[in-house]
Amino acid sequence: MCAMDKEDALSLLRQYVHGDSLIKHCLATAAVMKATAEYLGEEAATWEIIGVLHDIDFEQVGEDMEHHGIEGERILLEHGVDAEIAAIVKRHNHMLFGGYESPVEIALQAADSVSGLIIACALVKGGNLTDVTPNTVKKKFKEKSFAAGCERDRIRSIEPLIDLPTYYRLAIDGLITIKNELGLA
Ligand SMILES: [Fe+2]
Repeated sequence: MCAMDKEDALSLLRQYVHGDSLIKHCLATAAVMKATAEYLGEEAATWEIIGVLHDIDFEQVGEDMEHHGIEGERILLEHGVDAEIAAIVKRHNHMLFGGYESPVEIALQAADSVSGLIIACALVKGGNLTDVTPNTVKKKFKEKSFAAGCERDRIRSIEPLIDLPTYYRLAIDGLITIKNELGLA
């Protein structure tokens, strides 16, 4: 169990991240993490915080992906965040680590990518998240040039835990709970 709450995590994030789109990405990843944990019967509050904090170092490391995650862990430990959470944040850089086996680490890989794919789906529907269905996501998943930065393999890594249509449904529903914060309808 984590000692901080979502608001603490968000105010810590805001000390290091200033770009609105990156804040939204972190909130979106957190919402999907929370929904995934609820579905799996895991610690939703902790998973949500991990989502909020996962890219805390992104503006600091800039283009230097060799330090992404590693710097995040350092920042979090400096602020007294649980070492287990800090280690998950470090290891989420799949270009440096990988081979994820624990549900929370698998879920972070998938949430990090599916959140962007679903938001991109909403944007082609005039910003209406409520118009996005698992079928919309399934179709756009196959279109490789659509939201190309959302890595399909990372999304698919959730499959040992949850089938994709179910996952899309819970991820969409999770994002809908924060649609105003995401600037969507
Ligand atoms: Fe991310």
